[in-house]
Order: sequence, then C-alpha cells, then structure tokens
Amino acid sequence: MTGAAIRAAQYTILVIAAWFLFKSISDLAPYPLDRKLTKTAARSSCEDSSPFTAQDDEFSWESIVPSEELVWHECYSDRQCARLKVPLDYSNPDATSAAIAMIRVHSIVPHNSSDYRGPILINPGGPGGSGVDVVQTRGAEISTIVGPEFDVIGFDPRGISRSTPRVSFFESRSEREVWLRSPDNLYALSMNASADALPRAWAQGIIEGQLAGQRDDGSLRFINTDHTARDMLRIVQAHGREKLQYWGFSYGSILGATFAAMFPDNVERLVIDGVADSENYFATEWSNNLVDTEKTWGAFVDGCVAAGPQGCAFFSPTATELEANVVKIYASLRARPIPVRTNTSFGVVDYSMMRSVIFQSLYSPYAKFPVLAQALAELSAGNGTALFKMSERAAFKCGCDLSEFRFETVFDGGIAVRCNDGKRMPGSYEDVLEHYQNMSKLSSWADVWQSLRLACAAWPELPKNHFQGPFVANTSFPLLLVSTTADPVTPLAAAKKISQGFAGSVVLTQDSPGHCSISGPSICTQKYIREYFLKGTLPEPGTVCPVISSPFPSHDYGAAADAQAVLAPFAGDRELLEAVIELAKTFDFRFLGGL
Ligand SMILES: *[C@@H]1O[C@H](CO)[C@@H](O)[C@H](O)[C@H]1NC(C)=O
Ligand SMILES: *[C@@H]1O[C@H](CO)[C@@H](O)[C@H](O)[C@H]1NC(C)=O
Ligand SMILES: *[C@@H]1O[C@H](CO)[C@@H](O)[C@H](O)[C@H]1NC(C)=O
Ligand SMILES: *[C@@H]1O[C@H](CO)[C@@H](O)[C@H](O)[C@H]1NC(C)=O
Ligand SMILES: *[C@@H]1O[C@H](CO)[C@@H](O)[C@H](O)[C@H]1NC(C)=O
Ligand SMILES: *[C@@H]1O[C@H](CO)[C@@H](O)[C@H](O)[C@H]1NC(C)=O
Repeated sequence: MTGAAIRAAQYTILVIAAWFLFKSISDLAPYPLDRKLTKTAARSSCEDSSPFTAQDDEFSWESIVPSEELVWHECYSDRQCARLKVPLDYSNPDATSAAIAMIRVHSIVPHNSSDYRGPILINPGGPGGSGVDVVQTRGAEISTIVGPEFDVIGFDPRGISRSTPRVSFFESRSEREVWLRSPDNLYALSMNASADALPRAWAQGIIEGQLAGQRDDGSLRFINTDHTARDMLRIVQAHGREKLQYWGFSYGSILGATFAAMFPDNVERLVIDGVADSENYFATEWSNNLVDTEKTWGAFVDGCVAAGPQGCAFFSPTATELEANVVKIYASLRARPIPVRTNTSFGVVDYSMMRSVIFQSLYSPYAKFPVLAQALAELSAGNGTALFKMSERAAFKCGCDLSEFRFETVFDGGIAVRCNDGKRMPGSYEDVLEHYQNMSKLSSWADVWQSLRLACAAWPELPKNHFQGPFVANTSFPLLLVSTTADPVTPLAAAKKISQGFAGSVVLTQDSPGHCSISGPSICTQKYIREYFLKGTLPEPGTVCPVISSPFPSHDYGAAADAQAVLAPFAGDRELLEAVIELAKTFDFRFLGGL
C-alpha cells in the first residue's frame, strides 16, 4: 500500500473504532459485574421466581469433589471448572487441605497439538478479587488477546469466593450486609465528610479486626500471598508443567512479584499489569498509590472540556470553571444531601457518595467518564438519581436456601490477605490520624483511600513468617510490566521501581488514564502482550503505546459506511479490536476496599 492508502486505512480504522466504542458505551449500564450479582440475588430470593437460564443454575461448585489431580467439569455453558486440593499449611503439607476453585477457557487447539502453549493463570486484583468471576465473564476477550494457543485459567485465591476454607468474619449474610450497608460504613465514608469521620472509621476498623480474630476457625493464618504463590505453582504442576505463565492485574502484580521472587526458576512468562509497590504493601503503608490520581482526574476535566458540549454532558469552556462547578456540588451536598428513590431501591446522595463515585470512575475512564459527566450534570441541576445509580447495589434479599450463597464473593477474604501479608501496624487512633495527615499532604484523594488499612489496626496476632520480600530475582524468563501514564492507584513510578528488582524485565507504558492496560483500548499494548506470551519477545525499553480513542467519544463517524471493505486486510486485528474495546467499556476489576 502507498503511504496515503495506509493513512486512509488507519483513519478508517480509527473512525470505526470510535464508532464501536461509542455504540458500546451508549448501551452501557454503570456496573457490569454488579449486574451479575443482581442476577444471583434475584435468582435466590423467595418472592422472585425469576427467569434465569437453567445453565447457571444447574452447575454447583459443591458437586465437584476437590482432588489432587486436575479434574475438569463442564460449567457455565462453555467453560470447565475444577477444585484443586492443596495443603492448607505448606509447612505441614500432610495435615488439613484447602481447595482452590478454578475455571478454564479451553485453547482452540487440542492439547496434543504442537501449537498448544499451556495455561495462563489470571489474577484480577483486590486482594479479594475472584479470578473465577473474571474468567467466567471476560475470559473470551482475554483469550482473544493472548491467543487461541493458550488455556485461560481463572482461580479464586485461597480464602476467597469459591476457594475453601473461605474467610468470613460474619455469622450470616444478613449480619454482613447490615454492617456494610450502613451509610457511614468505613468503606463508604470520605474521611473528609465530617470531623468524626476518621475516628468513626477507625473504631469500625477495630471491630472488623476483632471479629476476624474471634471468629477464626484456625485457618486465617494461612490466607496470605505467600501461600497463594505456592498454590499457583501447584496449579502449574497439576498441568504437568514446571513453569508459570501468568497475567496479574493490580494486586495481582504483588502476587506475581511474590511468585517471581520466591520461585525465580519457575517463570516461563509473567506479565504484571497495573503494578503496585510490593514493599509499600507489605509494610501496610498504602502510602504511595495515589501519586498519579490527580492526573487521572485531570484527564476527566480536560477531556470533558475538549469534548465540547456535544461530547461531554458536564462541559465547561475551561478546566478552572469545570472544577469550580464540581466544588460547588460538593458544597451543596454537604449542606443538603439529596434523597433518591429508584424503582429498585432508595438512599441519600451525599458528599461521601460523590467522592467515592468519582474516585471509582477514575479506574475505568472509558466505561465511566461519559456516565459520570452525565451524573454530575444532573447533580448540578439538583437531581441525584444518576449518581446514586452509579453506586447502587442490588437490593439485599435473604435467600431461602443458604447453600446457594456458600461460594458468593464477599469482601472479608481481601482484608484477611492484606492484613496477614502486611507488617503489624500500630493500632492507636493517634497513629491512624498521623498517617492520614501524612497522606493528605501527598494526595487530595486521601479521604477515600484511608479505610484500606483500618481493619489491620486490631488484627489478631498471627505469626508472620511468610515471604515479605525482597522483590529481587534473576528469573528464568524476564518479566513484562505494564502501566498506564495516569493510573489512579498503581502509578507508573511503582512499575519502574519493581522492574529494577527483576533482571531483564521491561516496563511497557500505555498512554492513557485508568487502572491497568485493559481499562483503555490499545491494540499496540495488547499485541506486545500477545507476542510476549507467544514468542517470548519483549518491547524495547521505553516503549509507549497509544490508545485508539479518548474516553469521551468523538462524534465524527462519517466515513464508517464503506469501512468494512477497507478493514478486511486487518481481519486478525479486528477481533483484537473488538476484545480491547469490550474490556475497556466493561472494565471493573475493582473490589470493595482494594486495588
Ligand atoms: C490428538 O488427540 C485426538 C483425540 O484424543 C486424536 O484423535 C488425535 O489423533 C491426536 N493428534 C495427535 C497429533 O496426536
Ligand atoms: C426500573 O425502571 C427502568 C427505567 O425507568 C426500567 O428499565 C426497569 O425495567 C425498571 N425495573 C424494575 C425492576 O421495575
Ligand atoms: C432525574 O434524572 C433521571 C435520569 O437520571 C430522570 O429519569 C428523572 O426523571 C429525573 N428526576 C427529576 C425529578 O427530574
Ligand atoms: C508521617 O510522616 C513522618 C515524616 O515523613 C514520618 O516520620 C512518620 O512515621 C509518618 N507517620 C505515619 C504514621 O505514617
Ligand atoms: C475536605 O473538605 C474541605 C471543605 O470542603 C476542602 O476544603 C478540602 O479540600 C477537602 N480535603 C480533601 C482532602 O478532599
Ligand atoms: C543475578 O545475577 C547476577 C549476575 O550473575 C548476580 O550478580 C546477582 O547477584 C543475581 N541476583 C540475584 C537476586 O540472585
């Protein structure tokens, strides 16, 4: 092709991509993963005999007997599920066992084919996130990116969701819900909402730590990242292999770095994406996550201004005016919160809720910025419904059949991992206050971040003999680290720091706002990731990948009509294009209190 033809083709791809993205975003509901939760809740409530396909219903994790050999069972229409038996305590492997829940998207090539490349394990972050949930819902897109030669494996880390023993601080679902749904629950509260917000949150953190200790059945001490790294090695070995292939997001970067440092000779391919500073995490500091948050927020503000009144519902001619309008809403909500009644629930939109909705939107600009802009516009007209819907959770209904909830994802496991992993912190209010004051100097988002450490303030005194660093190794294959240029919770600086510890590793940068590469649509990034898995090639150090569009959609779709023909030569990339767009518009690897 001539240069002009290539440029024309590239332009057309951009236009199509933009159209796609817009189309996808326009039928977006605010919280895609929550939809699934809603579905579960609806299915299980007594009064609602509703209408979900038998497929999901028929599969029960309890029907799988955990085994030391991998035995796959059909589940969720085109997936396979398994429960792998591993030691609960690796220093006493013949005693009690744990069972790791796993799900698989099978490679397209048969396992006896010379093209088959083995399993890639996925961790979506948290800690506390369920790999089973993510591969069940997004496994097809992940498989498209890494390629059909691989199995894509999601697993629930020990203690979490469907892996047993599960961590639970509460004696019943309703006890947990009553605690978590209180409007001034520590995870919903901005520490800047009122003078007593921080002391109240501290007190609640103490209670969570106490509950964790009092209701421990003896397994709590084994729920940590060290043991999960050992479980990953077991999963690899159960596949008849020696070395790990892995793609971990967010907290999954801490898990990946831990594996690489503990088992440097067992690394075949290891991608960590949205990289946290493991040292800071194991010190229970959580103090250098918010370095770039202001940049992500700036992408909302500047993007909205640039998009114009047609492209952004909360448009102002300048960034200064737009920010002033946000501050006005904060002040107005402080003075007068807005009662909201939807047809499914009700609640109060207040300062804390607005802070938390904005902060969470920063994780996924392509899924959330246009929705957030709309919600802020309505809010400045006194209507809180749209903002409320962005944080709405399915109405809680007590299930009749509690066994249906035996494997539901709850937040307790994530707290257990981070408090067990982290060095013991001084639990006094004075110390918590000083930490908050330190954080407030570093970031204007300290108010929504502070709750993360609080459950560790009165954490039970369990032994701390697990691996806690250093994160340095000459691995059997170099690591690939991926970071965006404006990640709200895992800044690029952390990727650069962690990379220094791992010989030969490379940091690939994606020029977009948002958390982890897949929060933004980049063919360039995902091709590098695919080539790394498939061919073992790493990008040149310093490589920066562009994304194919901005979070606020442009309205120029003129040339899309005859685009199909032009796109034909890019058939291979087209699937990739669809996968990256689908991931970006549904990206929600975000867990109550975590990364
Ligand atoms: C792979 O396995 C399938 C089914 O077990 C068998 O039909 C096929 O011949 C095998 N192919 C090779 C290359 O061994
Ligand atoms: C709630 O209202 C929305 C739009 O007004 C509608 O689409 C939805 O079906 C309603 N849900 C229920 C449970 O009535
Ligand atoms: C508030 O906004 C929602 C859309 O988000 C709309 O359906 C509703 O009618 C509005 N309420 C009022 C009182 O204007
Ligand atoms: C607050 O910052 C000071 C100065 O950097 C440091 O010495 C102190 O340990 C910090 N306090 C807490 C609780 O993190
Ligand atoms: C806390 O709220 C006050 C009053 O609205 C505001 O001036 C200040 O910037 C806020 N601080 C943070 C960290 O949000
Ligand atoms: C990695 O290898 C280099 C060169 O052989 C050696 O100097 C270094 O100590 C090794 N690092 C680790 C963590 O083993």
